[in-house]
Amino acid sequence: MSGMGEAPNAGLLIVGADLVGAGQGDLLMRDGVFVDPSEAGADVERIDADGLVALPGLVDLHTHLREPGREDAETIATGTLAAARGGYTAVLAMANTDPVTDTAEAAEHIWALGRRDGAAEVVPVGAVSKGLQGSELAELGLMARSAATVRVFSDDGVCVTDARLMRRALEYVRAFDGVIAQHAQDPRLAGADACCHEGELSGRLGLPGWPPAAESTIVARDAELAALTGSRTHVCHVSTADTVDVLRWAHRRGIAITAEVTPHHLMLTTSELTGYDPIYKVNPPLRPDEHVAALREALADGTIAAVGTDHAPHARHDKQHAFIDAAPGMIGLETALAVLIETMVKPGRLDWAGVAERMSYEPARIARLPHQGRPLTIGEPANVVLVDPQARATVDAATSASLARNNPWHSRELPDPVAATIWRGRISYRRGGS
Ligand code: DOR
Ligand code: ZN
Repeated sequence: MSGMGEAPNAGLLIVGADLVGAGQGDLLMRDGVFVDPSEAGADVERIDADGLVALPGLVDLHTHLREPGREDAETIATGTLAAARGGYTAVLAMANTDPVTDTAEAAEHIWALGRRDGAAEVVPVGAVSKGLQGSELAELGLMARSAATVRVFSDDGVCVTDARLMRRALEYVRAFDGVIAQHAQDPRLAGADACCHEGELSGRLGLPGWPPAAESTIVARDAELAALTGSRTHVCHVSTADTVDVLRWAHRRGIAITAEVTPHHLMLTTSELTGYDPIYKVNPPLRPDEHVAALREALADGTIAAVGTDHAPHARHDKQHAFIDAAPGMIGLETALAVLIETMVKPGRLDWAGVAERMSYEPARIARLPHQGRPLTIGEPANVVLVDPQARATVDAATSASLARNNPWHSRELPDPVAATIWRGRISYRRGGS
């Protein structure tokens, strides 16, 4: 693909994009940063962006890249290509790899692989506990001070259940302005086999139930611990109206707790489970309509500050099982913006500035990323996604950049918004591949 990864010295000029709040204008980038568009020479590479909206490159707080350990499901190269296709210029790579990212060496390894293979910035998330075992703190300080400069720590996949360990982790990361991102799931209320929202349907389907209280009680506890320690906590993949209520209560008290919602929890509901298709098995589970409505409202009013995909690629042989035995998770990087447009922009719940906040500025702030989630102004890093607000397409799992095929959007008609992604002034994805 010409243009891919090659920034001509003359730079790249985006012509006539909607600059969201600043009218229609041009963006010139050279050596990875925005420069004055009036300096564009005749030999500059041009992208005609008439009718396209320019947003800052998206930042995903919650990506599972599977490398090292499960390169049959996803690699850093394929996962970041999926990210670029979805409009992302940075992804936070979750720690539940093999080996677990619980040491400075492991974090630096992923960071270095990202620099070598990535089509987007790869920011390692450090584990909270050694081996995600929930008993001893991982090397939080060493990971923070490593070349990977880890700021987000999470045992995602499992909950930090022990309140004392959670308290210690929060106290520890305060020194370097880190944040503990919690997979909120009390295992005594929703055990490892829980795979369906607890209710009438879980009873009828005979699937082990996952009550909303298993999430909201952990979030309430973590809010109290954040207040106690004066530290920051973040809630991964909020799935219930009850958690939204807890977040509102915590915010009224001024507690530093942020939250993310996944695209799938904004659109899909428990009713998808009636056919026992394991594609819809995810943790936390899909919830009924009233929860989905509460999540949309919370994302609109900022109670939930960010979108996180929980892109969770799985090999076919881990996913194609009876529902109860299948691996939980679904891929989502390539379709996240499409789902946001469908659920939030089209119905008038968020405007483009709101999308930029929830999918770029705020995730970058939470993760303390200096070069991401920045305005499209002179001197800033040139990370951009060009959005076509009108295009639609039928999703085809077979054409995904991700290695995995556990795509819940397959065969659905959705917006097809990403015209091009530019990371550090270079085209990392362009529709049509030109
Ligand atoms: O569905 C999920 N899959 N939820 C998680 O928390 C972890 C993820 C995974 O790693 O597959
Ligand atoms: Zn999780």
